[in-house]
Amino acid sequence: MPPLLRSILLSFSPLLLLLLSQTSSRPLPKGSHLDPSETPRYLHKFGYLPKPVTNFSDHSDPEFKSAVSLYQSNHGLAVSGKLDSATLAQMSTPRCGVSDKITINNKNGNNNDSVVSHYAYFPGQPRWTRARPVVLTYALSPTNNIDYIPRPKVEAAVRRAFGRWARVIPVKFRPAEDYDAADVKLGFYRGDHGDGEAFDGVLGVLAHAFSPESGRLHLDAAERWAVDFGVEESDVAVDLESVATHEIGHVLGLGHSAVKEAVMFPSLSPRSKKVELTVDDVEGVQALYGSNPNFNITSFLESETSYAVDSVRRSFMGNFVGVIVLLLCV
Ligand SMILES: *[C@@H]1O[C@H](CO)[C@@H](O)[C@H](O)[C@H]1NC(C)=O
Ligand SMILES: *[C@@H]1O[C@H](CO)[C@@H](O)[C@H](O)[C@H]1NC(C)=O
Ligand SMILES: *[C@@H]1O[C@H](CO)[C@@H](O)[C@H](O)[C@H]1NC(C)=O
Ligand SMILES: [Zn+2]
Ligand SMILES: [Zn+2]
Repeated sequence: MPPLLRSILLSFSPLLLLLLSQTSSRPLPKGSHLDPSETPRYLHKFGYLPKPVTNFSDHSDPEFKSAVSLYQSNHGLAVSGKLDSATLAQMSTPRCGVSDKITINNKNGNNNDSVVSHYAYFPGQPRWTRARPVVLTYALSPTNNIDYIPRPKVEAAVRRAFGRWARVIPVKFRPAEDYDAADVKLGFYRGDHGDGEAFDGVLGVLAHAFSPESGRLHLDAAERWAVDFGVEESDVAVDLESVATHEIGHVLGLGHSAVKEAVMFPSLSPRSKKVELTVDDVEGVQALYGSNPNFNITSFLESETSYAVDSVRRSFMGNFVGVIVLLLCV
């Protein structure tokens, strides 16, 4: 299996749906909740079951139970091996399609249910091995793009996403003059686009990226991408900057983290932003590349705290749904 990072599977948690239905008159997207009968396929897709089919009517099937247990452990849920409502809610929440089997590990490099998991890497811990100072160029595809957001705004969101990583590691990202020569190539693609990982339309897989040193970062053109939720009103809008930040983490060599607040956690709710690196993301990427000499972890931790407080305040002043999303993520 190629070291492919798959994407972000988008749907709503029941709690969010409930609250949305009480706070918004807009119709809810159809099919946004995972049916329990879909769970074997889901668990297979994300690396928890070797086969997509198991005897689902038999909830005591040991293989199924252990798959559910590991999923729960990797998502900070109470480990019961049962499809309880919290587990189904998590499965219904937007997530990246990268197989957790490949990428979620604890710091000792093994899957141990009783150990809290953190950041993770691809097998062999691939990273960009350039002479220092490492400079990676990036470019947006000139042809595979979206037309409803002005290009400069897309570029600005992508630039901010790269900037967050560049701040903490001694790696610089520069826009490439020539798309074909760029180290990191970003583009919006629809359906089957030739890399064996077809996108699935609205509210499915959102994006995927490949491990180092591939540099391919693909966003699902079928999503309703947003750079400003004040302008983009769709209930299924997805924050471009948040997804770009997550996928750049994969481009750099990070896998999924089991820390819910981390940018590298697989899930992202629609109409929510998660762009600030957490200490887990920082530790993970610095273990691969070292620290940016200008980066001060002490002041970072201080700003991380004040940012969290600020976001809560902003969300309360902004819109109610934003608050709910924030609470769900915590
Ligand atoms: C699935 O499990 C149920 C309940 O244990 C059992 O009755 C049924 O025979 C099983 N089906 C298969 C195909 O194994
Ligand atoms: C998992 O970690 C716990 C605590 O460190 C340890 O006691 C246990 O033996 C480990 N289990 C496995 C299967 O490695
Ligand atoms: C890092 O930041 C802290 C708090 O802002 C400050 O006290 C400390 O001197 C800084 N360390 C360096 C090496 O700049
Ligand atoms: Zn991911
Ligand atoms: Zn692709």
